[in-house]
Amino acid sequence: MDAPLIRAPLVFRDDGTPYSPRHDDIYHSAAGALAQARHVFLDGNGLPARWREKPRFTVLETGFGMGVNFLATWAAWRDDPQRPPLLEFMSIEKHPFSAHDLRAAHAAIIDDAAITPLAAALISAWPPLVAGVHRLSFGAGEIMLTLAFGDAGDLLPRLADHGLAADAIYLDGFAPARNPDMWTAGIFASLARIAKGDATFATYTSAGHVKRVLVDNGFDYRKVRGFGGKRAMLVGRRAQSRLVIES
Ligand SMILES: C[S@@+](CC[C@H](N)C(=O)[O-])C[C@H]1O[C@@H](n2cnc3c(N)ncnc32)[C@H](O)[C@@H]1O
Repeated sequence: MDAPLIRAPLVFRDDGTPYSPRHDDIYHSAAGALAQARHVFLDGNGLPARWREKPRFTVLETGFGMGVNFLATWAAWRDDPQRPPLLEFMSIEKHPFSAHDLRAAHAAIIDDAAITPLAAALISAWPPLVAGVHRLSFGAGEIMLTLAFGDAGDLLPRLADHGLAADAIYLDGFAPARNPDMWTAGIFASLARIAKGDATFATYTSAGHVKRVLVDNGFDYRKVRGFGGKRAMLVGRRAQSRLVIES
């Protein structure tokens, strides 16, 4: 049986950035949660352009947090006339927020009026905080959000066994030094099973350990400009060869 969930407390730093006392790390860049989502995860995965080639597109995220990456992805999909008919977004979260705290977090960090109705829809559909898989659908069913509540190290192998196949991977655990459980060799071995042949990934970190574990598990990476004053972040794809390019 799955272990009972421990929900996340809603805490802000003095500068208004949401903060996790458990991991001593922030949920998003102080330079802007939505702007970070767009730079790191959408641009980093070549979205929206890449989803235009497909009838359905599946994103896998490690760490749902406040759902900012999900909301930014949904908004980009909604605003794209060439969008695919179906967007599936699967995200794993060990310590979800209550619906009440999620609403308060969004009120503090969502600075784009076009996203506000999407955030309200997410909160209306927010599932009970019970470990396991929760499927939510939005619009006329064209946006499917699957929330897997539990530990990524336990859940990713099970999702791989069930045949989950991702077109894009958002690696958004807290910083590897503060939350090594989200960046283990086991996690990346599961991601390698889940990544489609042309899958891409993006992450805000450029930690040496992450580069090594990516390459060990069959991903190529590139270092590109990070967000909010960060010099570098990593993007990449399933390796076609063992070549690693740094720019
Ligand atoms: C940087 S935050 C994610 C921010 C989020 N993507 C967003 O758009 O708001 C990292 C998240 O990873 C979750 N997390 C940390 N360790 C985890 C684990 N072992 N398994 C699953 N989730 C984990 C944390 O609870 C936190 O919500």
